[in-house]
Amino acid sequence: MTLHLDTITLTYPDGDERLTALDHVSLEAERGTMTAIIGPSGSGKSSLLAVAATLITPDSGRVLLDGRDLAQLDRAETARVRREQIGIVFQSSNLLTSLTALDQLLVIAHLAGKDMNAAQSRARDLLDAVGLSPQADRRPHQLSGGQRQRVTIARSLMNQPSLLLVDEPTSALDSHRGEAILSLLRQLTTERDLITMLVTHDHGHIGSADHVTEITDGKTRQLAAW
Ligand SMILES: Nc1ncnc2c1ncn2[C@@H]1O[C@H](COP(=O)(O)OP(=O)(O)OP(=O)(O)O)[C@@H](O)[C@H]1O
Ligand SMILES: [Mg+2]
Repeated sequence: MTLHLDTITLTYPDGDERLTALDHVSLEAERGTMTAIIGPSGSGKSSLLAVAATLITPDSGRVLLDGRDLAQLDRAETARVRREQIGIVFQSSNLLTSLTALDQLLVIAHLAGKDMNAAQSRARDLLDAVGLSPQADRRPHQLSGGQRQRVTIARSLMNQPSLLLVDEPTSALDSHRGEAILSLLRQLTTERDLITMLVTHDHGHIGSADHVTEITDGKTRQLAAW
């Protein structure tokens, strides 16, 4: 399975003009690899993830997941692909305040119409994988920032995605906790054979990545493999 962003151009309305957020961007990534996306604020990093997540349809270009062009699917098909194949960890992917860590994961399986017995054991396995078994019954306000981030990562993996898109997962954390999240993502990418795309401001993180792509003014440049 590969992700291939093929010559993507994305513009936003900007007064009477259009602002070009992504300018003929191409990028390929394979399963079991982590690609770090770096670049200054406003360079197009989140826009690139939103296109890969099928949350925004680009003006032109193709989003190929295993050869299938996601930009050509109808809304219902796109929603299904997003639910079943794409895990999203954005800074705004908030936890529900009244639910325990375990229930945050179960609600995802419930919404996808999954068998809830299987979901119970999957959710417990995932909480274990992110080191949160002892906190399974805690609500978000009873967790640290790093623990909450680990719940959102576990939640993103609940439907067994092949593509994991992560936007600045460590910006609210101190460097020690940030490194722990990075090594967790690295480990999950390998163990679960994920295509992981990680937006980060922190250049200390790019050592964990297999590939590094830099965006400047909506144009990408692949840096040497680490
Ligand atoms: N919904 C929108 N409407 C109009 N312009 C937008 C919209 N979203 C983003 N932009 C513009 O597109 C460009 C790229 O934004 P994007 O959010 O992708 O940047 P980024 O690299 O993620 O920045 P940051 O590091 O600050 O999160 C910026 O100039 C931004 O102002
Ligand atoms: Mg951003």
